[in-house]
Amino acid sequence: MILSKQPRHIAIIMDGNGRWAKRKLLPRYAGHQAGLGTVRRIIKYSMKQGVEVLTLFAFSSENWKRPPQEVNLLMKLFMTALQREVKKLHKNNIRLRLIGNREAFSEKLQGLIADAEELTKDNTKFTLVIAANYGGRWDIADTAKRLALKVQQGSLKIEDIDENLFNSQINLNDLPEPDLFIRTGGEQRISNFLLWQLAYTEMYFTNTLWPDFNEENFMEALKSFGSRERRFGRISEQLKNA
Ligand code: IPE
Ligand code: IPE
Ligand code: MG
Repeated sequence: MILSKQPRHIAIIMDGNGRWAKRKLLPRYAGHQAGLGTVRRIIKYSMKQGVEVLTLFAFSSENWKRPPQEVNLLMKLFMTALQREVKKLHKNNIRLRLIGNREAFSEKLQGLIADAEELTKDNTKFTLVIAANYGGRWDIADTAKRLALKVQQGSLKIEDIDENLFNSQINLNDLPEPDLFIRTGGEQRISNFLLWQLAYTEMYFTNTLWPDFNEENFMEALKSFGSRERRFGRISEQLKNA
């Protein structure tokens, strides 16, 4: 299917793994494992549709509040996924990036992340961004802190701080802004995902649980995106004349 308007960057909250497992009378972990399968498929569909960037919310800064067994299992899953999949990503010319506060991860995991980023940094076909221990408020506060440091060091003047400058320092600044946001699992909230970056993103919510999210559901989201009129504050007539 060729669509008239294509998102260049899709950002997804992959939600519903736990409920998927519960419905099948399986442990929550089985849901996360099934969710990983969906990640593989969605990367493929995104590339097939000419999407350039996919940002996936894998673990929020609030998810540490979950029972310790689940947190541990998620960390293990993240680690094995990195070990197993990075070569495949690299072979497919995919660049992998991680956003989030990685200091909280084990040294081993931090090492794996750094190696994966280094290995794939020059790949050009597609960019996969994993948000792990990420929070939108952390992202904004961290950017503010870096700017404050520059002011303190004398390399930046306070009066030069504006939206554009801030935007040029925050995570994902070098990529196209997210055009389409998808949240699976039925909740209609942002849960501290990209806050700054979603300012003009089209939102799409679906009840489908992440492990069940398939190509048809994905195309449905793209179709919905294709029917939206993005006005960015202007009026409809201005867009038609442009
Ligand atoms: C999303 O699925 C995955 C992570 C947060 C890691 P959930 O684990 O939140 O699944 P539900 O919302 O409990 O069904
Ligand atoms: C958001 O899902 C975080 C991820 C998908 C990684 P949650 O399941 O943690 O969000 P809430 O708690 O329902 O808002
Ligand atoms: Mg959830």
